[in-house]
Amino acid sequence: MSVDLITATARFIEQKFAGEGSGHDWAHIRRVWLMARRLAAAHPEADPETTELAALLHDIADWKFHDGDYEAGPRAAREWLRSQHAAAALIARVETVIREVSFKGLGVATPVTSVEAALVQDADRLDAIGAIGVARAFAYGGHKGRPLHDPAVAPVAHDSFASYQKNTAPTLNHFYEKLLHLKDRLNTDAARQVAQERHAFMETYVARFLAEWDGID
Ligand code: ADP
Ligand code: NI
Repeated sequence: MSVDLITATARFIEQKFAGEGSGHDWAHIRRVWLMARRLAAAHPEADPETTELAALLHDIADWKFHDGDYEAGPRAAREWLRSQHAAAALIARVETVIREVSFKGLGVATPVTSVEAALVQDADRLDAIGAIGVARAFAYGGHKGRPLHDPAVAPVAHDSFASYQKNTAPTLNHFYEKLLHLKDRLNTDAARQVAQERHAFMETYVARFLAEWDGID
């Protein structure tokens, strides 16, 4: 495994994403990287180089910020890794992981085809829940100019990636449309364990939010 390639990738991504304001900043990517490594401890069959590079590159060009273009991420990752003379087989593995990571709507299955993708998908999902997850959801909503909450707008269980992508609902809906379901959509026991407390915190948080909404509680 090339430690130099991982170090160079971490530096490249850190520079590109420092100070980003939508919750997809370097701090998010760094946490996903560290969490994927932590989860990998229970999965010695995972290739560490693929796991770490895919974690570092998983949001390099997220469709949410590239006109819904789902190939922008794999393409940008490929270009970076080629510029670093990475082996073609490694590049292909990393691209596949990046393609499989993202959530695509409550009614849309997001199966993974490798243990490395399972780890990176779990690490990314763990960073969307708990205290950090709450902060990231409202940061993203603010970034997109959305209201915090609107009781008149009901949550939707999106059954296609296209309808999930078009969604512009208030941020609290996102808890019902994604975040509160993530604990049941993890691949590994290691991640399920980490999710328990984060999920419980988020449930408490949403209950408090609703209790305070009418200015009564
Ligand atoms: P994924 O690719 O699975 O969506 P990301 O790493 O891109 O994972 O993270 C998604 C982050 O963006 C999450 O923290 C999530 O809360 C936030 N996010 C995405 N869509 C919305 C939304 N409609 N409202 C609020 N937050 C959102
Ligand atoms: Ni991410």
